[in-house]
Amino acid sequence: MDIVILKDSDQVAAYGAALFRRLLHDKPDAVLGLATGGTPIALYRRLIADYSDAMLSFREATTFNLDEYLGIDPRDPQSYRSYMRRELFDPVDIDIANTFLPECAAGENPLDVGPRYEQLIRSKGGIDLQILGIGQNGHIGFNEPTSSLVSRTRIKTLTRETLAANRRYFDAPALQPQLAITMGIASIMDARDIVLLATGSRKADAVRQSIEGPVSSMWPASALQMHERVTVLLDDAAASQLAQRDYYDWVQQQKQELLNERGGA
Ligand code: F6R
Repeated sequence: MDIVILKDSDQVAAYGAALFRRLLHDKPDAVLGLATGGTPIALYRRLIADYSDAMLSFREATTFNLDEYLGIDPRDPQSYRSYMRRELFDPVDIDIANTFLPECAAGENPLDVGPRYEQLIRSKGGIDLQILGIGQNGHIGFNEPTSSLVSRTRIKTLTRETLAANRRYFDAPALQPQLAITMGIASIMDARDIVLLATGSRKADAVRQSIEGPVSSMWPASALQMHERVTVLLDDAAASQLAQRDYYDWVQQQKQELLNERGGA
Protein backbone atom coordinates (compact mmCIF):
# COMPACT_ATOMS: atom_id res chain seq x y z
CA MET A 1 0.00 0.00 0.00
CA ASP A 2 1.16 3.46 -0.81
CA ILE A 3 0.01 5.56 2.15
CA VAL A 4 0.07 9.28 1.49
CA ILE A 5 -0.79 11.59 4.39
CA LEU A 6 -1.69 15.12 3.38
CA LYS A 7 -2.55 18.23 5.34
CA ASP A 8 -6.23 18.49 4.53
CA SER A 9 -9.08 17.35 2.32
CA ASP A 10 -8.18 19.89 -0.38
CA GLN A 11 -4.78 18.31 -0.78
CA VAL A 12 -6.35 14.85 -0.88
CA ALA A 13 -8.64 16.00 -3.70
CA ALA A 14 -5.75 17.62 -5.58
CA TYR A 15 -3.62 14.49 -5.31
CA GLY A 16 -6.50 12.29 -6.46
CA ALA A 17 -7.27 14.60 -9.40
CA ALA A 18 -3.64 14.40 -10.52
CA LEU A 19 -3.95 10.60 -10.69
CA PHE A 20 -7.03 10.92 -12.93
CA ARG A 21 -5.29 13.50 -15.13
CA ARG A 22 -2.31 11.22 -15.62
CA LEU A 23 -4.46 8.20 -16.42
CA LEU A 24 -6.73 10.05 -18.88
CA HIS A 25 -3.69 11.60 -20.54
CA ASP A 26 -2.02 8.19 -21.02
CA LYS A 27 -5.25 6.33 -21.77
CA PRO A 28 -8.10 8.61 -22.91
CA ASP A 29 -10.50 5.64 -23.13
CA ALA A 30 -9.78 4.53 -19.56
CA VAL A 31 -12.40 2.70 -17.51
CA LEU A 32 -12.97 4.56 -14.23
CA GLY A 33 -14.51 3.11 -11.09
CA LEU A 34 -16.39 5.82 -9.21
CA ALA A 35 -17.81 6.27 -5.72
CA THR A 36 -20.49 8.53 -4.25
CA GLY A 37 -20.80 9.97 -0.73
CA GLY A 38 -19.33 13.11 0.76
CA THR A 39 -15.63 12.30 0.43
CA PRO A 40 -15.13 12.31 -3.37
CA ILE A 41 -17.06 15.55 -3.96
CA ALA A 42 -13.96 17.74 -3.58
CA LEU A 43 -12.13 15.46 -6.02
CA TYR A 44 -14.98 15.67 -8.55
CA ARG A 45 -14.96 19.48 -8.25
CA ARG A 46 -11.25 19.46 -9.09
CA LEU A 47 -11.89 17.24 -12.09
CA ILE A 48 -14.62 19.58 -13.32
CA ALA A 49 -12.22 22.54 -12.91
CA ASP A 50 -9.49 20.62 -14.77
CA TYR A 51 -11.95 19.86 -17.55
CA SER A 52 -12.94 23.54 -17.76
CA ASP A 53 -9.24 24.44 -18.01
CA ALA A 54 -8.89 21.88 -20.86
CA MET A 55 -6.50 19.81 -18.75
CA LEU A 56 -8.47 16.61 -19.19
CA SER A 57 -11.33 15.12 -21.14
CA PHE A 58 -13.74 12.30 -20.35
CA ARG A 59 -14.96 12.09 -23.95
CA GLU A 60 -13.70 8.54 -24.50
CA ALA A 61 -13.88 7.33 -20.89
CA THR A 62 -16.25 4.74 -19.47
CA THR A 63 -17.34 4.75 -15.83
CA PHE A 64 -18.69 2.16 -13.44
CA ASN A 65 -20.06 3.18 -10.07
CA LEU A 66 -19.66 1.04 -7.02
CA ASP A 67 -23.26 0.98 -5.94
CA GLU A 68 -26.86 2.12 -6.24
CA TYR A 69 -29.86 1.87 -3.98
CA LEU A 70 -32.28 -0.88 -4.90
CA GLY A 71 -35.77 0.26 -5.84
CA ILE A 72 -34.92 3.94 -6.22
CA ASP A 73 -36.02 5.82 -9.32
CA PRO A 74 -32.90 6.95 -11.22
CA ARG A 75 -34.48 10.44 -11.44
CA ASP A 76 -34.88 10.61 -7.66
CA PRO A 77 -32.43 13.30 -6.48
CA GLN A 78 -31.11 10.83 -3.88
CA SER A 79 -30.27 8.11 -6.40
CA TYR A 80 -26.59 7.66 -7.04
CA ARG A 81 -27.34 8.17 -10.75
CA SER A 82 -28.62 11.68 -9.88
CA TYR A 83 -25.64 12.30 -7.60
CA MET A 84 -23.20 11.40 -10.38
CA ARG A 85 -24.98 13.58 -12.93
CA ARG A 86 -24.93 16.50 -10.53
CA GLU A 87 -21.42 16.10 -9.13
CA LEU A 88 -19.52 15.02 -12.25
CA PHE A 89 -21.22 13.78 -15.41
CA ASP A 90 -23.30 16.80 -16.47
CA PRO A 91 -20.54 19.40 -16.02
CA VAL A 92 -17.96 17.42 -18.07
CA ASP A 93 -17.85 15.97 -21.58
CA ILE A 94 -18.53 12.34 -20.71
CA ASP A 95 -20.93 10.40 -22.94
CA ILE A 96 -23.77 9.44 -20.59
CA ALA A 97 -24.20 6.21 -22.60
CA ASN A 98 -20.79 5.16 -21.24
CA THR A 99 -21.70 5.67 -17.57
CA PHE A 100 -22.89 2.65 -15.65
CA LEU A 101 -24.27 1.99 -12.19
CA PRO A 102 -25.62 -1.31 -10.87
CA GLU A 103 -29.18 -0.21 -11.56
CA CYS A 104 -32.15 -2.50 -11.63
CA ALA A 105 -34.23 -1.65 -14.69
CA ALA A 106 -38.04 -1.71 -14.44
CA GLY A 107 -39.20 -5.32 -14.68
CA GLU A 108 -35.69 -6.73 -14.22
CA ASN A 109 -35.08 -9.40 -11.60
CA PRO A 110 -32.83 -7.71 -9.00
CA LEU A 111 -30.89 -10.97 -8.68
CA ASP A 112 -29.82 -10.66 -12.34
CA VAL A 113 -28.28 -7.20 -11.92
CA GLY A 114 -25.05 -8.37 -10.28
CA PRO A 115 -24.00 -10.98 -12.88
CA ARG A 116 -25.01 -8.59 -15.70
CA TYR A 117 -22.90 -5.77 -14.18
CA GLU A 118 -19.87 -8.04 -13.73
CA GLN A 119 -20.16 -9.13 -17.36
CA LEU A 120 -20.45 -5.52 -18.53
CA ILE A 121 -17.30 -4.52 -16.61
CA ARG A 122 -15.43 -7.45 -18.15
CA SER A 123 -16.68 -6.58 -21.65
CA LYS A 124 -15.21 -3.07 -21.28
CA GLY A 125 -11.83 -4.51 -20.38
CA GLY A 126 -12.01 -4.11 -16.59
CA ILE A 127 -11.55 -1.06 -14.38
CA ASP A 128 -8.28 0.86 -14.71
CA LEU A 129 -8.65 3.09 -11.65
CA GLN A 130 -11.16 2.54 -8.85
CA ILE A 131 -11.90 5.35 -6.40
CA LEU A 132 -13.12 4.30 -2.97
CA GLY A 133 -14.39 6.05 0.13
CA ILE A 134 -14.59 4.17 3.42
CA GLY A 135 -17.44 3.86 5.90
CA GLN A 136 -16.89 4.36 9.62
CA ASN A 137 -17.40 0.61 9.90
CA GLY A 138 -14.75 -0.05 7.24
CA HIS A 139 -17.14 -0.74 4.38
CA ILE A 140 -16.08 -0.16 0.79
CA GLY A 141 -18.88 0.16 -1.70
CA PHE A 142 -21.75 -1.17 0.40
CA ASN A 143 -19.79 -4.24 1.45
CA GLU A 144 -20.72 -4.10 5.08
CA PRO A 145 -18.74 -5.93 7.80
CA THR A 146 -18.88 -9.74 7.35
CA SER A 147 -19.19 -9.34 3.56
CA SER A 148 -17.33 -12.15 1.88
CA LEU A 149 -13.87 -11.07 0.82
CA VAL A 150 -14.49 -12.86 -2.50
CA SER A 151 -17.95 -11.33 -3.06
CA ARG A 152 -19.20 -10.11 -6.43
CA THR A 153 -21.84 -7.53 -7.37
CA ARG A 154 -25.02 -8.37 -5.46
CA ILE A 155 -27.78 -7.08 -3.21
CA LYS A 156 -26.73 -6.04 0.30
CA THR A 157 -28.76 -5.03 3.31
CA LEU A 158 -27.32 -1.84 4.77
CA THR A 159 -26.34 -1.79 8.43
CA ARG A 160 -28.17 0.52 10.84
CA GLU A 161 -24.92 2.45 11.16
CA THR A 162 -24.71 3.07 7.39
CA LEU A 163 -28.39 4.00 7.25
CA ALA A 164 -27.84 6.48 10.08
CA ALA A 165 -24.74 7.95 8.39
CA ASN A 166 -26.69 8.54 5.14
CA ARG A 167 -30.01 9.59 6.70
CA ARG A 168 -29.13 13.26 6.27
CA TYR A 169 -29.64 12.95 2.52
CA PHE A 170 -33.30 11.88 2.79
CA ASP A 171 -36.29 14.08 3.66
CA ALA A 172 -37.88 11.33 5.77
CA PRO A 173 -36.52 8.00 7.09
CA ALA A 174 -39.31 6.13 5.28
CA LEU A 175 -37.89 7.35 1.93
CA GLN A 176 -34.47 5.85 2.60
CA PRO A 177 -33.87 2.50 0.86
CA GLN A 178 -32.55 -0.26 3.12
CA LEU A 179 -31.09 -2.33 0.29
CA ALA A 180 -28.43 -1.56 -2.26
CA ILE A 181 -26.71 -3.31 -5.13
CA THR A 182 -22.97 -3.05 -4.70
CA MET A 183 -19.89 -4.27 -6.45
CA GLY A 184 -18.38 -7.00 -4.31
CA ILE A 185 -14.97 -7.01 -2.69
CA ALA A 186 -13.59 -9.32 -5.39
CA SER A 187 -15.06 -7.04 -8.08
CA ILE A 188 -13.22 -4.08 -6.51
CA MET A 189 -10.02 -6.10 -6.18
CA ASP A 190 -10.10 -6.76 -9.96
CA ALA A 191 -9.38 -3.07 -10.65
CA ARG A 192 -5.84 -2.49 -11.90
CA ASP A 193 -5.30 0.48 -9.57
CA ILE A 194 -7.24 1.46 -6.47
CA VAL A 195 -7.27 4.81 -4.69
CA LEU A 196 -8.91 4.95 -1.27
CA LEU A 197 -9.78 8.42 0.03
CA ALA A 198 -10.46 9.13 3.69
CA THR A 199 -10.81 12.50 5.35
CA GLY A 200 -11.84 13.59 8.83
CA SER A 201 -11.41 12.11 12.28
CA ARG A 202 -14.63 10.05 12.00
CA LYS A 203 -12.73 7.75 9.63
CA ALA A 204 -9.58 7.41 11.75
CA ASP A 205 -10.55 4.14 13.45
CA ALA A 206 -11.67 2.46 10.21
CA VAL A 207 -8.46 3.63 8.52
CA ARG A 208 -6.30 2.19 11.31
CA GLN A 209 -8.15 -1.11 11.41
CA SER A 210 -8.06 -1.48 7.63
CA ILE A 211 -4.42 -0.57 7.08
CA GLU A 212 -2.72 -1.86 10.21
CA GLY A 213 -5.13 -4.50 11.45
CA PRO A 214 -5.50 -8.08 10.25
CA VAL A 215 -7.29 -8.84 6.98
CA SER A 216 -10.80 -9.55 8.11
CA SER A 217 -14.32 -9.38 6.74
CA MET A 218 -15.14 -7.40 9.91
CA TRP A 219 -13.21 -4.49 8.32
CA PRO A 220 -13.94 -4.97 4.61
CA ALA A 221 -11.38 -2.35 3.49
CA SER A 222 -8.65 -4.50 5.05
CA ALA A 223 -9.00 -6.73 1.94
CA LEU A 224 -7.10 -4.00 0.08
CA GLN A 225 -3.95 -5.20 1.85
CA MET A 226 -4.07 -8.07 -0.65
CA HIS A 227 -4.03 -5.79 -3.72
CA GLU A 228 -0.74 -4.90 -5.39
CA ARG A 229 -1.51 -1.34 -6.40
CA VAL A 230 -3.44 0.60 -3.77
CA THR A 231 -2.87 4.26 -2.95
CA VAL A 232 -4.42 5.49 0.30
CA LEU A 233 -4.89 9.25 0.41
CA LEU A 234 -5.53 10.54 3.93
CA ASP A 235 -5.77 13.91 5.55
CA ASP A 236 -4.15 14.46 8.93
CA ALA A 237 -7.34 13.75 10.87
CA ALA A 238 -8.07 10.43 9.13
CA ALA A 239 -4.44 9.36 9.71
CA SER A 240 -4.46 10.37 13.37
CA GLN A 241 -4.73 6.84 14.78
CA LEU A 242 -2.09 5.18 12.62
CA ALA A 243 0.67 3.64 14.72
CA GLN A 244 3.22 3.64 11.88
CA ARG A 245 2.55 7.17 10.69
CA ASP A 246 6.22 8.25 10.90
CA TYR A 247 7.16 5.37 8.65
CA TYR A 248 4.56 6.28 6.00
CA ASP A 249 5.82 9.87 5.93
CA TRP A 250 9.39 8.61 5.70
CA VAL A 251 8.53 6.36 2.76
CA GLN A 252 6.94 9.25 0.87
CA GLN A 253 9.97 11.40 1.58
CA GLN A 254 12.28 8.71 0.21
CA LYS A 255 10.12 8.35 -2.89
CA GLN A 256 10.20 12.06 -3.49
CA GLU A 257 13.98 12.14 -3.16
CA LEU A 258 14.29 9.29 -5.61
CA LEU A 259 12.04 11.10 -8.09
CA ASN A 260 14.02 14.34 -7.68
CA GLU A 261 17.30 12.50 -8.25
CA ARG A 262 15.93 10.84 -11.37
CA GLY A 263 14.47 14.14 -12.55
CA GLY A 264 17.85 15.80 -12.04
CA ALA A 265 19.82 13.02 -13.73
C1 F6R B 1 -20.40 5.23 -1.96
C2 F6R B 1 -19.77 4.14 -1.26
C3 F6R B 1 -19.52 4.17 0.20
C4 F6R B 1 -18.91 5.48 0.69
C5 F6R B 1 -18.70 5.45 2.20
C6 F6R B 1 -18.15 6.75 2.73
O1 F6R B 1 -20.52 4.93 -3.36
O2 F6R B 1 -19.50 3.18 -1.89
O3 F6R B 1 -18.65 3.11 0.53
O4 F6R B 1 -17.69 5.68 0.04
O5 F6R B 1 -19.91 5.20 2.83
O6 F6R B 1 -19.10 7.76 2.55
P1 F6R B 1 -18.73 9.28 2.85
O7 F6R B 1 -17.73 9.68 1.84
O8 F6R B 1 -20.05 10.00 2.67
O9 F6R B 1 -18.21 9.33 4.23
